[in-house]
Amino acid sequence: MICSKFIRNTNQTKQFGDIVLDYREDTFAILEPYFQPELPQSLIDKFGKWAVITGATDGIGKEYAKELAKRGLNVVLISRTKEKLVAVTTEIENSYKVKTKWIVADFSKGKEIYEHIRQELTGIPVNVLVNNVGRMYDYPDELCKQPEDLLWDIININVGAVTLMSRLLIPEMKKQGKGAIVNISSGSELQPMPLMAVYAASKRYIKSLTLAMSEELSEYNITVQCVTPLFLVTKMNLYSKTVMKGNILIPQVQAFTRSAVFTLGKTNETTGYWSHGLQYFFMKLLPEWLRMRIAHFITKQMRKEHLSFQAESKNS
Ligand SMILES: NC(=O)c1ccc[n+]([C@@H]2O[C@H](COP(=O)([O-])OP(=O)(O)OC[C@H]3O[C@@H](n4cnc5c(N)ncnc54)[C@H](OP(=O)(O)O)[C@@H]3O)[C@@H](O)[C@H]2O)c1
Repeated sequence: MICSKFIRNTNQTKQFGDIVLDYREDTFAILEPYFQPELPQSLIDKFGKWAVITGATDGIGKEYAKELAKRGLNVVLISRTKEKLVAVTTEIENSYKVKTKWIVADFSKGKEIYEHIRQELTGIPVNVLVNNVGRMYDYPDELCKQPEDLLWDIININVGAVTLMSRLLIPEMKKQGKGAIVNISSGSELQPMPLMAVYAASKRYIKSLTLAMSEELSEYNITVQCVTPLFLVTKMNLYSKTVMKGNILIPQVQAFTRSAVFTLGKTNETTGYWSHGLQYFFMKLLPEWLRMRIAHFITKQMRKEHLSFQAESKNS
């Protein structure tokens, strides 16, 4: 909507002052969801009491679990490592006095794991699902240089988990007549990303799936939100020292997630964080072919940075 407005502006040879005013309006529209007042209803009243979060022991998933628990929701955490699950659920129980449960599951293992998750969730009325788990390459590089197993894992984790976890939990939400599904995509869905090709393609799948699910489920009072973060300081980006330093455009994960959870129930499409919203808006003004060239330039720089760091470490 914002982009088409921009195109209209340029076609109609508007005065410079009008365009500046329109930009100001657009900027307010982008920033509004991050700064508007709290919802009149609590998340529990609006959606329900139990949340499931995938990939919940680190990064965004762990912070979602904590933010939801802070708002009184009971949380079920799913990821691969039992010790980390025990540590995070204990921390949450001690801090927020909510019920917790953990489930060990490896989403790279294909569809067999969903029966195990279904059994573990028996009797728990789940209304909120955060499809967060995701896998990137170890560092940006060409598709043909990625191990076959890693590519298959990325497809199972980034595409399979969001699809089958939603399928598993939607019936309970429909039965209860309310619920929310949060799908964590990525700003990389905005254009194809050379050197991160499979990752970005999987995130575009999530965007498309989410928009369709949102329409399918609106008549059942189920919110489906697509969150498209840009770069954040999490261990997924350990390959880049520049990203891990963080800055105003690359926030710390706690600040990001606090803001992203704040938008739940207010908007169905968000980057989650105000400075990501602005970056996304300005990138979207460019044609896709140009965005892809810029993305390629950035991923090449990241690969170079990573390889020179590796070479330095070997020599020292
Ligand atoms: N970080 C960013 O800059 C960024 C930007 C945009 C979008 N995102 C998206 O945000 C989501 C979370 O990213 P993050 O940066 O927070 O990741 P992260 O810090 O690497 O954390 C990943 C979490 O997922 C779990 N996990 C990894 N592989 C798993 C598997 N096969 N099965 C089950 N659990 C698994 C990990 O725990 P265990 O290792 O114990 O299993 C951990 O809890 C991803 O979907 C990512 O694509 C991230």
